[in-house]
Amino acid sequence: MVHHFLRDDDLSPAQQREVLELALEFKRDRYVTQPFVGPQAVALLFDKHSTRTRVSFSAGIAEMGGYPLVIDAGNSQMARGESIADTARVLERMVSAIIWRTFGQERVEEMAAHSAVPVINALTDEFHPCQILADLAAVADARGGVGALAGLDLAYVGDGANNMAHSYLLGGVTAGMHVRIGTPEGYLPDPAIVDRAEQIASETGGSVLVTHWHDDAVRGADVIATDTWVSMGDEGEKADRAKVFEPFQVNAASLELAAPGAQVLHCLPAYRGKEITADVIDGDQSIVWLEAEYRLHAQKALLAWLVRQ
Ligand code: CP
Ligand code: NVA
Repeated sequence: MVHHFLRDDDLSPAQQREVLELALEFKRDRYVTQPFVGPQAVALLFDKHSTRTRVSFSAGIAEMGGYPLVIDAGNSQMARGESIADTARVLERMVSAIIWRTFGQERVEEMAAHSAVPVINALTDEFHPCQILADLAAVADARGGVGALAGLDLAYVGDGANNMAHSYLLGGVTAGMHVRIGTPEGYLPDPAIVDRAEQIASETGGSVLVTHWHDDAVRGADVIATDTWVSMGDEGEKADRAKVFEPFQVNAASLELAAPGAQVLHCLPAYRGKEITADVIDGDQSIVWLEAEYRLHAQKALLAWLVRQ
């Protein structure tokens, strides 16, 4: 059966480890495996803006011998009402994988239900699982290997109800991490995702904490992550969010509370002076550029792994 990657728990802990190990290998040798030699085409569909995801998947597919076929919203017949199912039935005959950034999770699920080739979630309103693979790989690389991830305390502070929070919950505990979400009232993660994360954590030795206090989230953390306070689609709430999220900014005080040498992650794009201060994102403890680079290596690893299942 075809293996899709629609949310972080579509990889078991053992499978996630394999993908992360391969990601680190791709960083050492960008051409270590080339499953798309032919070239085979891979479809990349974007219903929302993107810089990193578009470039990293495109470059990665090319480096693996394939042809990235980038289709923007508005240019496909889906924008004029063709169904997701019919689109899948056509694409699966022509490409080796379908990568899609879109709105509701149910849209990638519908694509996957009608596709005989792997479908990859390149960000939905609910999850951003490719980003978390890159984040985990970057932390692993910076700490000497994938084996270093289990047992780390990872604090995410900011919008607890967004795609990054949900993916840190599922992807983090899959890696055996202790995931703490610090978020204001009214921005709690989806309880079903918290339950699922707790279930995975009980198998991997990880844990989950959701708090309304920035300090409780970051105290002693090995890794601090944040994300924009205004995700794509939330632009209308920008002013309100700036006030509500202010106590959750990642700044020098966050690093004071964290473990010595804690690493800082941000999926980017970042807004300095809002969710993170310039001294922190541009400082010594930030690994955000390594994290961005790992979008390339981790997604190549994911694609190579999925197409050989
Ligand atoms: N982090 C991330 O997904 O970046 P883009 O929106 O630029 O793809
Ligand atoms: N939470 C952000 C992530 C951007 C990569 C968004 O959905 O806009």
